[in-house]
Amino acid sequence: MSALSVKDLSVTFQGGSKGFTAVRGVSFEVAAGETFGLIGPSGCGKTTVLRAIAGLNTNWQGEISVSGAQLVPGQKIVGSMREDIQMVFQDPYSSLHPRHHIARILGEPLSIRRIPNVTERVHAALDQVGLQAAVAQRYPHQLSGGQRQRVAIARALLLKPSFLLLDEPTSALDVSVQAGILNLLNDLKASHGMTFILVSHDPGVVAHMCDRVAMMAKGSVEHILDRTALSLQA
Ligand SMILES: Nc1ncnc2c1ncn2[C@@H]1O[C@H](COP(=O)(O)OP(=O)(O)OP(=O)(O)O)[C@@H](O)[C@H]1O
Ligand SMILES: [Mg+2]
Repeated sequence: MSALSVKDLSVTFQGGSKGFTAVRGVSFEVAAGETFGLIGPSGCGKTTVLRAIAGLNTNWQGEISVSGAQLVPGQKIVGSMREDIQMVFQDPYSSLHPRHHIARILGEPLSIRRIPNVTERVHAALDQVGLQAAVAQRYPHQLSGGQRQRVAIARALLLKPSFLLLDEPTSALDVSVQAGILNLLNDLKASHGMTFILVSHDPGVVAHMCDRVAMMAKGSVEHILDRTALSLQA
């Protein structure tokens, strides 16, 4: 059984007379522990696929199953599955609350779930992504882009997800910072036994990170390349 399976996924956005179908008939399977890439030109539907899997957009058709459980279109993801799938966005600045300090941004998801020892857990999460505890007292605008992306990764990891959906996690960062974040992700994946779906425009990032890759164009998957085909392309 695959850890994550997407079958014939379509997403249509309302507007105009017929709406706009951004994703059409997308299917792929991801094995547990795999890093599966989604690549393709801007606007081809990569983020739209991730948002459907993460439950951020429930308006889709087809089948999505995660760890053997089917998601239901039109319904929010609830219970433990909600925590099990976390997403890291391309621009961490827009996904971190600008007027909350880092301690609150990281601590709130834990407090809401009545998880104890919030401060200790927040400091441990910062440590895990290579940030000092003092960062907890700062606001997002007081951090560098690389530090903000580390905070976003720490937030995604605090709920110990099995699946991490990474939407261009390093594209806003300097090349030198990029490598550090990618290696961090690979280390965390190995120690937590996670499964990744990674969207990237960068062939180098894809070759470094992914076991297999779906190449998308105009809302559909055109090919799925395995590791051998990827190394031939690189
Ligand atoms: N909420 C929305 N309402 C209407 N159209 C949308 C919405 N979100 C995305 N789209 C459209 O759906 C298409 C796919 O968008 P998506 O963000 O998935 O592309 P992408 O492959 O992630 O592109 P990029 O590489 O630029 O991030 C685009 O044409 C986009 O304009
Ligand atoms: Mg996108």
